[in-house]
Amino acid sequence: MLSELNWTRVLSVCALLLGACQSGADSLLGEQALQLKTVSWNAKSVPTGTVFAVADLNEDTVVFSSLGAMVFTAGLPLYTDSSVQSWKSATVIPAGNLAGSWLVGIDGNGKVRRLRDRSQMEDVSDRYGLQNDSVTELVAADPTTRTAFALGSQLAVSDGAKVTRYPVAISQISGGSSRVSGVVDGAVVTFDTRSGNLARYGVGAPVATLIDTAGRLVVATEDSLYRESGDSLTKLYMSSDAPIRGLVLSSGVVWVQIGDTLAVLDEAEVRRAAAGKIPSDGKLLASSTGDVWVLSQGTLQRFGEDTGGGASEDQWKNTVQPVFTRLCSLCHMPGGSANMDLSTYKSWVARKDAMRKRVVEMTPSPMPPKGAGSLTQDELTAVSAWLDTVP
Ligand code: HEC
Repeated sequence: MLSELNWTRVLSVCALLLGACQSGADSLLGEQALQLKTVSWNAKSVPTGTVFAVADLNEDTVVFSSLGAMVFTAGLPLYTDSSVQSWKSATVIPAGNLAGSWLVGIDGNGKVRRLRDRSQMEDVSDRYGLQNDSVTELVAADPTTRTAFALGSQLAVSDGAKVTRYPVAISQISGGSSRVSGVVDGAVVTFDTRSGNLARYGVGAPVATLIDTAGRLVVATEDSLYRESGDSLTKLYMSSDAPIRGLVLSSGVVWVQIGDTLAVLDEAEVRRAAAGKIPSDGKLLASSTGDVWVLSQGTLQRFGEDTGGGASEDQWKNTVQPVFTRLCSLCHMPGGSANMDLSTYKSWVARKDAMRKRVVEMTPSPMPPKGAGSLTQDELTAVSAWLDTVP
């Protein structure tokens, strides 16, 4: 793959549009209760050593630990690549050839390694011209095409054909809708990977940022949550009793760590679990399932919302959600083009009759729509079998 050095003019949008990036009016959301449950992910409780990072994709989970890269499939240990035993972080990015996704980890030397054949972590740094760099962080700037690599004093962006480097010293990066959010000199910024524009926002001391599935910047500071609306950030939530410590996007769900518990930021409310659910020194890590990982002192736990769905919900997660990710997420994420969020168990239950008609019976018109892919026979059987479990 070609790597070129392309110094693009970096412009601060706020310097031009006076006041455009100040924080806007408060619009505080109501708070509801969140029921949490611990999700089992290591059915045989195999020892994992000291865990540094985790990432999951479809039925595979890779735990990056002092024992190596441990591959679990459907909760069972499959293989451990013990050749590298020090890791910085892990995530899912568009595949180098843009065919699907790669589960990747950054090793202790800043090399990018992807899971290959569900067994080895192959060094792919040279595909991005990064063999002489030390990558500190990487994110999907877009789920299917763009990957951004933080290199300390530069940001490198791959669009699948070429890699462009920008003189942007950004850290704590997140990505989405072709934008990368993060922190430069203690201030929140977004970097548009298409135009090369850097925008600064008038919020100090960020704890974390992300770009949600509707393409909006979300910022957590120690006491507040903000979301982008038009040209400014609106304050949505204030925590007066415990500090906000983290924020991640898991398949459309915005998880927030508040003190020693978790909350979910929805469109019109914040739902917060009771105190004492997680270690307060924990670090949140995203999961492609919509659940969230909590890493504390080298130990990993996984949490999800307990919507009372019991076995039917577990079956949905294991057999239907992968179909959603493969065929429906393109249009049916929150804020997606179909304007209908089907990313959760609840949303499928609420539309079970329409699901049977459109997806299984394909009347009056099929879902996915013609030309947007179709379910395999196994997937149809799985959806149909799950629909039978819904009361
Ligand atoms: C290319 C975009 C696209 C994809 C991919 C897609 N949908 Fe849709 N879907 C839409 C749009 C747009 C509508 C609303 C118009 C309509 O009903 O046809 C819709 C409507 C629906 C409805 C009707 C809901 C109701 O209450 O009437 C269901 C159910 C549905 N989709 C399920 C799915 C499922 C399940 C998948 C994946 C297996 C999927 N869709 C993939 C665009 C898409």
